[in-house]
Amino acid sequence: MKNYIKADEWNIIEEGFDPQLNEISESLFSIGNGHMGQRANFEETYTGKTLQGNYVAGIYYPDKTRVGWWKNGYPEYFAKVLNAANWIGIDVTLGDEHLDLNTCKVTDFKRVLNMREGYLQRSFTAELASGKKLAINAKRFCSIVDQEAGAIKYAITPLNFDGDIAINAFIDGDISNKDSNYDEKFWDHVSNEVHDNEAYLTIKTKKTGFDVCTGSCTSTFVDWQPVSTEYKGIAKEKYVATAFTIAAKQGKEITILKYVANVSSMDHQPEALLDACKNVLNKVVTKGFDTLLAEQAAAWVAKWNESDIIIEGDVAAQQGIRFNIFQLCQTYTGKDDRLNIGPKGFTGEKYGGSTYWDTEAYCVPFYLATAPQQVTKNLLIYRYKQLQKAIENAEKLGFNNGAALYPMVTMTGEECHNEWEITFEEIHRNGAIAYAIFNYIRYTGDKDYLNDYGLEVLIAIARFWSQRVNWSDAKKKFVMLGITGPNEYENNVNNNWYTNTIACWCMEYANEAIKFVKEKAPAKYEQLAAKISFNEIEETSYWNHITENMYYPKDEKRNIFLQQDGFLDKDIAPVSTLKASDRPLNQNWSWDRILRSCYIKQADVLQGLYFFSEKYDIDTVIRNYDFYEPLTVHESSLSPCVHAIIAARICREEDAYNFYLRTSRLDLDSYNNDTEDGLHITSMAGTWMSVVEGFAGMHVKDNRLKFNPFLPVQWQSYSFNITFRNALINIKVDTDGIYLSNKSNAAISIDIFNEVHDIKPGTHIFAEHREKV
Ligand code: BGC
Repeated sequence: MKNYIKADEWNIIEEGFDPQLNEISESLFSIGNGHMGQRANFEETYTGKTLQGNYVAGIYYPDKTRVGWWKNGYPEYFAKVLNAANWIGIDVTLGDEHLDLNTCKVTDFKRVLNMREGYLQRSFTAELASGKKLAINAKRFCSIVDQEAGAIKYAITPLNFDGDIAINAFIDGDISNKDSNYDEKFWDHVSNEVHDNEAYLTIKTKKTGFDVCTGSCTSTFVDWQPVSTEYKGIAKEKYVATAFTIAAKQGKEITILKYVANVSSMDHQPEALLDACKNVLNKVVTKGFDTLLAEQAAAWVAKWNESDIIIEGDVAAQQGIRFNIFQLCQTYTGKDDRLNIGPKGFTGEKYGGSTYWDTEAYCVPFYLATAPQQVTKNLLIYRYKQLQKAIENAEKLGFNNGAALYPMVTMTGEECHNEWEITFEEIHRNGAIAYAIFNYIRYTGDKDYLNDYGLEVLIAIARFWSQRVNWSDAKKKFVMLGITGPNEYENNVNNNWYTNTIACWCMEYANEAIKFVKEKAPAKYEQLAAKISFNEIEETSYWNHITENMYYPKDEKRNIFLQQDGFLDKDIAPVSTLKASDRPLNQNWSWDRILRSCYIKQADVLQGLYFFSEKYDIDTVIRNYDFYEPLTVHESSLSPCVHAIIAARICREEDAYNFYLRTSRLDLDSYNNDTEDGLHITSMAGTWMSVVEGFAGMHVKDNRLKFNPFLPVQWQSYSFNITFRNALINIKVDTDGIYLSNKSNAAISIDIFNEVHDIKPGTHIFAEHREKV
């Protein structure tokens, strides 16, 4: 755990330069706009420890699988989000000395991520070996208005000398991924072009053939007066630059504006890419830095209006939640149904930037409530479009009849996770894909989604489960063998309660969806049934037979669900009995020891109690929480949020608050000592859920929003906006109770503490907290 970020409600602030913390800060201060994103690497040369990261959405490379023993069915490759051309480069040289924070004396270093307006600022004073001192002030952002553009303002002031400063504003395409399996470079050179103050570089990914063209336009000012500079263009393979020398005067600020465009063949024809790049660049140069930044700030204000959570009385908690919301909004904007949300977003390489079940299980609720409906719909359509690949994935594993197994990790729909226990066994992810359809419809009321997209996916998933279970003569029940549940600290177990539960739920929900589409859109139903050769009577009666005869492991004595068969044979001792030096287990114990232990990586049985909360009464939830939470090490970032929500539901308010803090400041405080790899973007949605679904107890039932809130004692109040079926509602919870304001034009009825309240447009209602029992 590291705790060096200054508390502030709207800014992430680092003061003082510590090279040991640099890679963590590079992750924390990342910027992005849904189309591209970037770690907080320095503009100037840095020879110290750094993880370079520039990413362009959707651009990936299929890195050949690396495993010890090949097993049939293994994916051929692991899809990596690619480190793309470095567009921020501005080298500063004085004679033969480079400005390099690794070699010079750095004072007054300050890095600020301004979340309200969406930019990154860095300032410091550097003293070179020659004694020359420079003050640097750099500001940059990825525009959320012009998504293919970014801009940098880089100001240099000589503090104690006059003399020449050589500047080299470059784009470097000769980059690599740190996590490359075979130390290969993934980009080929296509073309370059430099003239005057403009430079363009086009590179192409190997194998996948994506073209990315990056262009820059540089201009220079002294004390904000334009200076006529003689620009020298440099064009080499995978590298372009605009270089110039300026006669610097002590105390006079030199400002370099570097506008950048980053366009890819995801959005433009390859032959039109250079022109597209020039057009974007021209547009942003014409607007100018200040206008771009003002537009950026205004666009962020609008985003915050939809998604902010305001916490009074706890700056650390406020900073934490805003940081999570900010990073989520930087990662996914929902404009493109070919894109998704990688667990590290645009902030690192680990997890390949690919799509996991995290999206459906954790991110969907956030986008449903804070963004237009289409944003979540695009996430669902992403999976719909990959259905054929999911069917092929299942075929590779021996399933048939159009059964679909969605991948654990993917870019294109093809499975590319390389660990057998996860690839073959962690199949609960299939359930999350179906659950997201249910969740989307429950929230939006858009049941027609089933007619055009949803039903086809649900049937394919139900078909998979019906083939994955088998009849046990010994138990006289259906069982599911060889499973890895959400708790990845167990492999190859039988009858993981969560997986059995979600599998049966999928078959039941598919049945319900069939009835709906048959009735509401019979022609579409017939068309679909013919397309997928659906034998409705035979298939659905078999699904019913399974769901009626499924085996669920249970401990009768404790009256709890068993995570899997035989769980109670383990040596059961709470996490509190472990030595501090054992934690985290995954860095200190052998894998074998972890597998045999009773320790749980993340919510497993509790994940099911969260998803299907209405099926289980409070006493059941309490018994299971009291048994499983003490055994849980929360070594997945996805764990604390589910526990926060469940703890809130069973009125363990202090637990809920502690889990909230852990999830919201997971990266800010580098809780798991892994922030340098990148941020835990998908679990950030879980932080939002902890407040909205946990503390405020929000959920949707029978087409109505329900709240069951409490206020953590550490806070004076919290408030947030929710978009629900075109209505914008503000919810505020303080020491007295809950205030709900209807900011829309239609009346809405909302359930608070199980009482229905009708709220007219433009009015608000208040309900007092309930007596605590
Ligand atoms: C978790 C998975 C998750 C993945 C990506 C793993 O550590 O156990 O549930 O999908 O990280 O976030």
